[in-house]
Amino acid sequence: MRRIPTSARGARFIGWGTALGHDTVTNHDLEQKMDTSDEWIRERTGIERRHIGGSNVELSTESGRRALEMAGVDPLSIDALVLATTTPDRGVPGTSASVQHSLGLKCGAFDVNAACSGFVYSLVTAHGLIAMGAERVLLIGTDVLSRITDWNDRNTAILFADGSGAAVLEATSDSGHLLGWDLDADGSLENLLYQDHGDFIKMDGKEVFRRAVRIMVDSATKSIAHAGVTSDDIALVVPHQANIRIISAACDRLNMPLEKAATVIHETGNTSSASIPLALFDAANKGRIKEGDLVLLVGFGAGMTAASAVIRWTAR
Ligand code: UT7
Repeated sequence: MRRIPTSARGARFIGWGTALGHDTVTNHDLEQKMDTSDEWIRERTGIERRHIGGSNVELSTESGRRALEMAGVDPLSIDALVLATTTPDRGVPGTSASVQHSLGLKCGAFDVNAACSGFVYSLVTAHGLIAMGAERVLLIGTDVLSRITDWNDRNTAILFADGSGAAVLEATSDSGHLLGWDLDADGSLENLLYQDHGDFIKMDGKEVFRRAVRIMVDSATKSIAHAGVTSDDIALVVPHQANIRIISAACDRLNMPLEKAATVIHETGNTSSASIPLALFDAANKGRIKEGDLVLLVGFGAGMTAASAVIRWTAR
């Protein structure tokens, strides 16, 4: 079983920020464009509205700047920028390079594409950098899915949207907040959800739904075991915001009441790499997480990737 070495230097969040696409699109707006209804979308997905617009660099810079301001740190003190995204502004260079420049950072910067699991993949990666000597890492999850969504396809257009969530991770003198983690992928399932260059997202929604519940539960169960805790110990679960019915089914199988889940899907839709930080920091801003609480982050996505982490909330 994977264990975090007791000698590894830990980290914790010292600031965070979020941003949403610049324009609001309601279900009623979509009713005007395609054969769907507000009632169907709410009942089948939990989504009421979503926000689209803005480039990846713009949204990442907004959330990143807010995180740096809340942390109260000099941008020059950031040792690395990790940007989780599936929708870079350009093929080359990585969008992280442009965001590094727009935020006035002087450090290494790279993109991580693990689809909707990207933020948790990046969180674990950032902890690895800190274990290797970095003092502060800026972690951002951003997606501009509106750019690769076919706005005439009711199978996908009702779901996807744009957003960004960022956090500053700082090294601690103790073992830090990360207690357990799990990263997974099954590339044999890549054709369930993909986007070819120059084309729109294609998705077998029913099959993704069926697999999503199982892989989220498997990954979460591994992280909970690695952390040496039980699902009863988890105060808040922050799932990927893909569909409220997926969240509900996963909570059910993890023996957690839905009330333990952080949800923003009604407001944000599915923002892929941004979805977990948007839900996590919304819960933190609303005072739903107390010092010492155990928080389970769990995502799934194209690839089919899965990622989860158990953290003890010790944010400054
Ligand atoms: O980050 C990961 C990204 N992807 C996902 O997480 C997707 C996971 N899958 C889902 O969320 C769901 O499968 C969808 C929301 C995509 C679809 O919901 P569903 O409950 O699986 O619907 P369905 O495909 O089984 O369709 C049920 C009915 C069908 O009509 P009939 O055959 O029963 O008459 C569809 O034609 O609903 C119809 N339908 C719609 N009606 C209104 C399908 N899409 C729509 C729509 N508006 N947008």
